[in-house]
Amino acid sequence: MKIHTVDAYQIFDSRGNPTIECVIAVEPGLTGVGRVPSGASTGQYEALELRDEDPRQFGGRSVFTAIEHIKGEIAAAIKGNDVCNQEAIDTRLIDLDGTQNKSRLGANATLAVSLAVADAGSKALGKALYDYLGVGQGRLLPLPEIQIIGGGAHAHWQVDIQDFLLVVMNAASYEESLKVTYDVYRTAGDLLLQQGRAVGVADEGGYWPLFDTNDAVLDFLVDAIDAAGYVCGRDCMISLDFAASDLYDGEYYRFRKQDRHFTSDEFIDLVVDWCHRYPVISVEDPLADSDWTGWERLSHRLNGRVQIVGDDLFTTNSQRIRKGRETNAANAVLIKPNQIGTVSETIAAIELTKNNGWLPIISARSGETEDTFIAHLAVATNAGQIKVGSFARGERMAKWNELIRISRALGNRAQFVGGRIYDRILRR
Ligand code: PGA
Ligand code: ZN
Repeated sequence: MKIHTVDAYQIFDSRGNPTIECVIAVEPGLTGVGRVPSGASTGQYEALELRDEDPRQFGGRSVFTAIEHIKGEIAAAIKGNDVCNQEAIDTRLIDLDGTQNKSRLGANATLAVSLAVADAGSKALGKALYDYLGVGQGRLLPLPEIQIIGGGAHAHWQVDIQDFLLVVMNAASYEESLKVTYDVYRTAGDLLLQQGRAVGVADEGGYWPLFDTNDAVLDFLVDAIDAAGYVCGRDCMISLDFAASDLYDGEYYRFRKQDRHFTSDEFIDLVVDWCHRYPVISVEDPLADSDWTGWERLSHRLNGRVQIVGDDLFTTNSQRIRKGRETNAANAVLIKPNQIGTVSETIAAIELTKNNGWLPIISARSGETEDTFIAHLAVATNAGQIKVGSFARGERMAKWNELIRISRALGNRAQFVGGRIYDRILRR
């Protein structure tokens, strides 16, 4: 099945910002679609998202140049290729771009094409995307990490920590983990209203409440889990994404509202203290992407008791993951396809993470579309964990719902290990 036409055009993401939709036709009526998400708290080592930077067009955020690259150079290079040869097409995209960070064509251009190729390839073979990508081996439904409260760059710095997330530890199925999530998310919303703290929802659908300190949010989350009828520390645990590259000025980590600042060692003390005082199972980007030695010291201090996730630190980049492994900087990797720019490189980063004995977590971006590729990717690669933002907003629910459909399609072949996934990396 050969690629016949390549089309692309501008659509809009969940923040209303321009992004790219690419459609690849193999033959009339058989098409694949790819849509690209976009981050707000982006890491400095991510592949480049090419925007037009013309202030007269969508505040500089339009993506017409990247779209021209798709319809021109990229289309000419991949037309006639076998659509099922994902790796060869992705390699062609990488070579065509020719830069380290896809800055010539734009990672948004390469990823839109790569995603559309994957979708078209699965349809050409008449397979579901998770089945096609996983070559029939994908059957593990992921444990969700779900944002209850949002902060940082996603909520105008109302609180400093970006994500306060719920992890349902002992659900028997993926569907049951969503039931517990529903209960906690609703209860948290009701409590915030009662307490007069509710302001709105953050970019990923979590509440954006009024709190004076980060500790107060942690106390609140523990109370909300309890009020929903679950035992915090047993049924449910807390996960935090510090997005600490945004807190770091090269010298100090800064909490804006409280006007506090911390050296790297002082910030490590704070992270370790929270992990002791609260039922925290996972910390993401607890330190900045430039503070490698800090990561090593924190990993040493936490000593396999908590999942330590590199997002901005690794940017889904195999070279950086290898460096992290050599220095024992973490034990898990957040996986975002648009940080690296092709499906094949994303899958390679997941495989490398697993071969290291670490855990991958498939992740959405704060600017999302209705695309459900990452739900399929999580099952295809048996990644074991997924992070999609909160339990609200269509672009988030599209992923949670797609996993329900995949679960049904897998039937009794589906597996779910829930919180036992952490047994692979933690000593508890
Ligand atoms: P981003 O946030 O998409 O704005 O980078 C998500 C995250 O940090 O995990
Ligand atoms: Zn993150």
